[in-house]
Amino acid sequence: MSHAEDNEGTRRDFLYYATAGAGAVTAGAAVWPLVNQMNPSADVKALSSILVDVSGVEVGTQISVMFLGKPVFIRRRSQAEIDEARAVDVSVLIDDSSENPNKPGTDAADENRTMDENGEWLVMMGVCTHLGCVPLGDGSGDFNGWFCPCHGSHYDTAGRIRKGPAPQNLHVPVAEFTDATTIKLG
Ligand code: FES
Repeated sequence: MSHAEDNEGTRRDFLYYATAGAGAVTAGAAVWPLVNQMNPSADVKALSSILVDVSGVEVGTQISVMFLGKPVFIRRRSQAEIDEARAVDVSVLIDDSSENPNKPGTDAADENRTMDENGEWLVMMGVCTHLGCVPLGDGSGDFNGWFCPCHGSHYDTAGRIRKGPAPQNLHVPVAEFTDATTIKLG
């Protein structure tokens, strides 16, 4: 199977998953079991890491992988997405933290959110910071990034919350490039 086919499969799974998340909205309380599932204990977190081959990810697309029971979005941004994110003044952001443990204590400037200096690679937990639904990607929402249909949270092309009830930017997981085409999560 080629990388492209592989990614297609991942995306279909993700879309199905996101739809299931949206369905839980009508039954408010049904969101909570999902959130609980999404919080594995600290000892599990400490032991786990996975390697993701990103060689098949085209510019302007993303893949979703499951890591510790949660979706992780790995997006290879286009120059337009990067430019849009970098044109934003941090002072207008709802959450001014980078929410990035790889760059602790930094502000939410686009440069502090991405894996590489050029800002092409953005890796984030695919978990809405409101109640844990899985946001839709590929330019969704009013800010061309991600949109959580559960209660209407809009994230920009850097995954920063811009509008809606979510209080924080999409969290960046512990991640690093181990070589030019491999990202280690955890
Ligand atoms: S879970 Fe409520 S807006 Fe995403």
